[in-house]
Amino acid sequence: MTELIGIAQSKSETHSHRLLNLAATAWFVVTTIGQWAFGAYIVAFYGASTASGNLKRWNEVLPHGYVQGDWAGNMVVGMHVLLAAILVLGGPLQLIPFIRKNAPTFHRWLGRIYVATALVVAIGGFVMVWTRGAVGDRVQHISISIQTVYIVIFAILAWYHARARRFDIHRKWATRLFLVVSGVWFFRVGLMCWLVINGGPVGFDPKTFSGPFLTALAVFTYALPVSLALLELYFYAQKSRKRFIVMAAALLMCFVTLLMVIGIFGAVAGMWLPRMR
Ligand code: HEM
Repeated sequence: MTELIGIAQSKSETHSHRLLNLAATAWFVVTTIGQWAFGAYIVAFYGASTASGNLKRWNEVLPHGYVQGDWAGNMVVGMHVLLAAILVLGGPLQLIPFIRKNAPTFHRWLGRIYVATALVVAIGGFVMVWTRGAVGDRVQHISISIQTVYIVIFAILAWYHARARRFDIHRKWATRLFLVVSGVWFFRVGLMCWLVINGGPVGFDPKTFSGPFLTALAVFTYALPVSLALLELYFYAQKSRKRFIVMAAALLMCFVTLLMVIGIFGAVAGMWLPRMR
């Protein structure tokens, strides 16, 4: 896993670098489990309701999901939620070094599909927010719209550098793309972690789905993603010889992973599993 997200480790690997790799591996394993749980929910809920023609069922979750007579809008929503499964199920596979090395053709094709899907889903989501409306307030809508811009730019850069065979740069942009595409997942996991820790809604009104906590969560997952800052710290720490930096990055990743475990548990138990039944 030393090349988990693309940067080869130096030969003189120190204890702190080993800890960093361990933290990155733990983060990646937890992320993969959590994203696949989200993917299983998407397939079981949206896949099953769409396949059986029961599109009204979308509205059990989405306040602006199925609207009778608006076939174009319904198609945008349907494509958004169904194609999202490709992103959350396929994304983690792209980061696994074993697959990149041993199944390069699979990696290339999944990469093309992933980039195209990310563009369609993100732009579709943008259209949904500004035509049909979405839960939450204006700051949340603007924040997630800024994320669409990141997704479009990072998708183009990841694809461009892969085409030019600059694989080190490609891996960095592809990982950044994975993190911004995962923004909606981070938002859900962050929200559920907060609810579990506080034992209920604190810092926001669940009826209007707005308040200071949700404003901060939207800004720091979508508009100014903390995940990207952590990734840059990880890239920096991988090359750093300063023990303090490497240890700080490793411990921070462990802490974030712990919060994610709590959030994923909350999301699976409180949100996804009940809707899959
Ligand atoms: C690219 C990664 C994305 C994925 C994987 C994704 C996935 C999903 C999923 C699964 C849902 C259904 C909600 C649920 O059942 O919990 C959903 C809803 C929605 N998404 Fe996305 N989405 C992505 C990006 C975006 C973006 C960038 C926007 C907006 C700019 C957006 C806007 C929406 C809206 C408006 C809804 C309907 C929920 C509501 O009314 O608030 N999505 N998305």
